[in-house]
Amino acid sequence: MGRTATIDPNNPDALLLREAAQLLRDGRLVAFPTETVYGLGANGLDSEAVGRIYEAKGRPNTNPVILHVSSTAQAKELVAAWPEEADLLAEAFWPGPLTMVLPKGSHVPEIVTAGGPTVAIRFPAHPVARALIEATGLPLAAPSANRSSEISPTRAEHVAKSLGDRIDLILDAGPTSMGIESTVIDLSKEPFRILRFGPLVPEQLKALLKREILWNSAAEVPSEILASPGMLRKHYSPHTATLLIDRVGEFEKFIDRISARERIGYLLRTWNIDPEVENGKILMPTGAAEYAERLYDALHRLDSMELDTIIVEMPPDSEEWLAVRDRLTRAAAK
Ligand code: TXA
Ligand code: MG
Repeated sequence: MGRTATIDPNNPDALLLREAAQLLRDGRLVAFPTETVYGLGANGLDSEAVGRIYEAKGRPNTNPVILHVSSTAQAKELVAAWPEEADLLAEAFWPGPLTMVLPKGSHVPEIVTAGGPTVAIRFPAHPVARALIEATGLPLAAPSANRSSEISPTRAEHVAKSLGDRIDLILDAGPTSMGIESTVIDLSKEPFRILRFGPLVPEQLKALLKREILWNSAAEVPSEILASPGMLRKHYSPHTATLLIDRVGEFEKFIDRISARERIGYLLRTWNIDPEVENGKILMPTGAAEYAERLYDALHRLDSMELDTIIVEMPPDSEEWLAVRDRLTRAAAK
């Protein structure tokens, strides 16, 4: 079992960082917090170390990983081309929850990009992530620190439960603040395309770049972008069957179909349904950012209750809820 070490997010312990950085330089795996979710880090320039990430997660080798940097200058060293739009986005949103896909530099290992011509790069804002990248002096490959296709971790306990026996060190800085994975935008070809919805909504990117950006909803993923498996329909899934309900009126219909002996859990936001059920009911915040912050922790909790079905009140169909609706849609995909 790997060790979990507590680290102060605002004033990370230098000795602990040095130890973590040494592990990473030695090709080992270290889980660390970012402002979105916990990442499973390895030296992004070492193919063998990145191979250990794939092995630990059980991740298909067709799914590329993100390289994390601690400056825009470091990002530029990893790419073959850096368009003007990348500068605009970096100035506006880095450090932060934005991942940019760009033509890969020749020294970026094939395993990082799953053999493809592009590399995904993010400069995270979390002080521990930044300090750790700086301490190693390396770009860190870091997918979310969960087994492949499971719910992403927003707490160190989630990491320990899913991967604890497969990693060398978990840096525990408490729950992450944004709660869902970064927005991914592909700038490697025009028109630009959002590959994954996240904390930054499309309107923010469009307003800055002053141009059209394409994206697809979780329900209609075209085959040409299945190359980015974050777009796979089944992803971020609890083990428990999950049903999404758009209108409270549909609830009765669903409940009729469920057998009387089933244990049902609820992820609710505004509805007050099935009042007899006390445990297994989680009431979520009404605002999109606060909801996102708590979403995975709520799913982790419901998933550990040995329920037969999780019923989810779908939040509104508006732009600010795109990322949350996307994750819920994937969580419910069979
Ligand atoms: O917030 C985040 O992005 C977290 C934290 C740890 O930084 N990381 C994360 O990594 O969510 P991961 O591996 O779980 O998701 C990365 C997503 C996947 O959907 C992957 O397919 C996509 O980014 N991706 C990575 N490299 C790509 C590339 N070169 N082209 C297209 N998509 C890429
Ligand atoms: Mg992931």
